[in-house]
Amino acid sequence: MTFEEARAQFPVLERVAYLNAGSFGPLPRATIEAMQAEQARDLRYGRAGSAYIDRMFDLRTEVRARLASLVSADPEQVALTGSTTDGCNIVLAGLDLGPEDEVVTTTDEHFGLIGPLHASGARVVVVPPDPETITGAVTPRTRLIAISHVLWTTGQVLPVDELRRATGVPVLVDGAQSVGAIVVDARAVDFLTISGQKWLCGPDTVGALVVAEPERLRVARPSYFSQQRHEPDGVFDPWPGARRFDPTWVPPGSLAGLLAALDAKPEWCFERAATMAEQCRELLTETGADVVVPAQRATLVSWRPQGEEPETVVARLAAAGVVVRDLPGTGLVRASVGWWTSEEDLERLVAGVAG
Ligand SMILES: Cc1ncc(COP(=O)(O)O)c(C=O)c1O
Repeated sequence: MTFEEARAQFPVLERVAYLNAGSFGPLPRATIEAMQAEQARDLRYGRAGSAYIDRMFDLRTEVRARLASLVSADPEQVALTGSTTDGCNIVLAGLDLGPEDEVVTTTDEHFGLIGPLHASGARVVVVPPDPETITGAVTPRTRLIAISHVLWTTGQVLPVDELRRATGVPVLVDGAQSVGAIVVDARAVDFLTISGQKWLCGPDTVGALVVAEPERLRVARPSYFSQQRHEPDGVFDPWPGARRFDPTWVPPGSLAGLLAALDAKPEWCFERAATMAEQCRELLTETGADVVVPAQRATLVSWRPQGEEPETVVARLAAAGVVVRDLPGTGLVRASVGWWTSEEDLERLVAGVAG
């Protein structure tokens, strides 16, 4: 697939410089077509019968396998969630933490992780996102390190595998800003969340949770999909593997739409995304912008506007057909650069920033 062919899959890119995958990725045409086909089928034939149920389970199996292979996991280790937040809640509820337990996290986490951390009942230890500081915060009471692979604020990459090795403490990785943007290997960590709607360009409310050892985490939030049989009082036999954590029904259209989005991804996606993100940082720096350049970085590019409110910059860029966002409370504006981003997109961004 050439770059032009790959990019042509996204109609929104014909209109605007869409630099928003950190929130929602651009949707490929084929994703919407797959969703519409499933909905047309539901409309015509109803949502009933063994053919319907078999199709739904087949789609679940296929999505599980595709997401597993994307992050070098086994399909048996993948639960189908609706979001990263779902995945964090499943892990933290299942670990049965209490006030004597500590969880180490960083100052730069999204509420999708820290909300569930707070609700877990453990003592949440918050430190700056620096590997040595994270390691130094581990005590004999630490039950979990819970951090992003890529920080949503600055695009900094945290060495999640090294932290796991150095501390021996289980690691929950929020993969919302890494899976689909950079190469991710779930084998190095205990728990990894996936958001399907961001860098994978899938529909809303699709995602996954990879659990290295599913049988060792309690099913704290069972759904109908968790069990192969149950008693009248609710005692149940969970399915083998991580499907026991599947929290809910996922519409067949969303599953088919996510598969189509995964098909849209060219082989060269990670190399190109890294190159374009680097180009974006260089071009913005040349305009005099105060660009955040972490030593280890992914595809989010943030800068601190000088003498102008971040919201004002975002609105001015939107008027010029450039979609970026501000990050409330940080003073930062963030552009999400994907494998689909063109040089013209970056030129439009830079022209808009320079005013
Ligand atoms: C680092 C990070 N974690 C979690 C989330 C929430 O993701 P989801 O909507 O899939 O729960 C986001 C969304 O922006 C994020 O950037």
